[in-house]
Amino acid sequence: MPKIVLFSIFFSCLVLNSSCVNIPPKTTFENSNVLDSAMVVSAHPLASEIGKSILLKGGNAVDAAIAVQFALTVVHPSAGNIGGGGFMVVRFNDGSHTSLDFRETAPALASKDMYLDDKGNVIDRLSLDGHLAVGVPGTVDGMYSAFKKYGTLKWEELLQPSIDLANNGFVLTKLEAEGLNYYNSNKLKFNSISPTYLEGTWSQGDTLKLTDLGNTLALIRDYQRAGFYEGETAEKFIQEMNRNGGLITKNDLINYQSKWRDPVVGMYKNFKVISMGPPSSGGACLLQILKMIESFNLKKMGFHSADAVHLIVEAEKRAFADRSKYLGDPDFIRIPLEKLLDSNYLIDRMRNYSSLRATISDSIYPGDFDFVESDQTTHYSIVDAYGNAASVTTTLNSSYGSGVVVGGAGFLLNNEMDDFSSKPGAPNLYGLVGGSANAIEPNKRMLSSMTPTILEKDKKLFMVVGTPGGSTIITGVLQTILNVIEFDLSMQDAVSAGRFHHQWKPKEIKIEQNKFDSTLIFQLMQMGHSFNFVGSMNRVDAIVVAKDGSLEPGADPRGDDAYSGF
Ligand code: GLY
Repeated sequence: MPKIVLFSIFFSCLVLNSSCVNIPPKTTFENSNVLDSAMVVSAHPLASEIGKSILLKGGNAVDAAIAVQFALTVVHPSAGNIGGGGFMVVRFNDGSHTSLDFRETAPALASKDMYLDDKGNVIDRLSLDGHLAVGVPGTVDGMYSAFKKYGTLKWEELLQPSIDLANNGFVLTKLEAEGLNYYNSNKLKFNSISPTYLEGTWSQGDTLKLTDLGNTLALIRDYQRAGFYEGETAEKFIQEMNRNGGLITKNDLINYQSKWRDPVVGMYKNFKVISMGPPSSGGACLLQILKMIESFNLKKMGFHSADAVHLIVEAEKRAFADRSKYLGDPDFIRIPLEKLLDSNYLIDRMRNYSSLRATISDSIYPGDFDFVESDQTTHYSIVDAYGNAASVTTTLNSSYGSGVVVGGAGFLLNNEMDDFSSKPGAPNLYGLVGGSANAIEPNKRMLSSMTPTILEKDKKLFMVVGTPGGSTIITGVLQTILNVIEFDLSMQDAVSAGRFHHQWKPKEIKIEQNKFDSTLIFQLMQMGHSFNFVGSMNRVDAIVVAKDGSLEPGADPRGDDAYSGF
């Protein structure tokens, strides 16, 4: 099990004393609860290295997160982005916490039925492919907002490593080369100006230079937020929209605002769980599931036992049913969050749970109470040397988003509009169904499943965790947490372990093939469960703080994911 031991942070902090004393929330190096190491775990080794270099300069977890976000835009284009959005949860070394919502919004010209035909049926892939699928990106505003509030290094320092990577080129891994070839064959048709990504068939070891993207990142370096939402980049963005019927206007770009929100916070046994609230469903669903299973003896049932998998799946079904009815953008609908997270309500949700039989999804409905309603993302986990932690999940939605690259500006645009409910009950890409709470409205944020999460134990930082994976994000984070705190797996084993998922509808357990033994599958089938076997789910990147204060990474072997630190 890799452990990273501090060797130079004391020196760095002496040299960079002014940065150290500016670490939020206004603690000093001398009196802060300093961990003896710092770490970044992300989807790409080069992004993790860049994050580490920022931490080594004395930067804090937010500084490193910003640098990693821009680095992933270059080296992990299927999900790393400036043309998408995401969520950041931060826990400071004094135990205070916050979260940043840089989720995309629907353009002002968007409308409820924009993906329906004359007969009211959903037009296949209209919310997924091409210019009409794009939400107004939030990433650059989010990163700049995080920087203004908590950054301690210079903005330029956070951008420059990614600009250099884009301009000088970087060597493709096998997975990234395969990803680009997929993008070439599937999404080429959406671009009238051919992007660099399409210059050939890519192989592992090829060098990819992205000079258009390098120029855009340099504009962001020089003009901050305005380098993206105004001026040359915005001009190119709008020209791209106009070439192919996109709805986003100059005003949409100028008006975009990321938002600081209170995270959702709850207890699971003696662990405090700090996660993302609406417009992500991630934190609420995660806490609902944890509360529903809390009173059962999961440890005794055993890791990947039929009883444990059955219990978790049954709780997942109930949480996803609630998600479909109650969750959406809190700026547009009233969300009964307190009720949804109420212990008595959640105990009651399990009253028809049977430890022997699967509850049929059709017999599960969203919880009924008196309330009037007015496969691709990426995650990185960071702990800095001062004990601050950042958990960030960011996305273009599906791999390579809408497939549209802004002509001459070199960055991919999201297809996040598919995360809205195009029509009540009609499944989206992830098979998720929703209703009016998540209907399309101008300027509204689409409901997400992203679950960047931080856990503390005995008031101390314990775990930083998150993953990509659409609806499976919630259950992937859940299982990783349970693997460590209930089943005593190491962080790496917890991340590598096989995963399963139920989201109420469709009525099946999605499960990684070849990771579970056939006896377990047979036992679960006898209880009434059915299965959808898939290749792999999620790429969890997590850090746990060991008893001696050292940091243990879990970098998902399903991808190129890697940790770096000191
Ligand atoms: N686009 C996936 C999510 O936000 O859940």
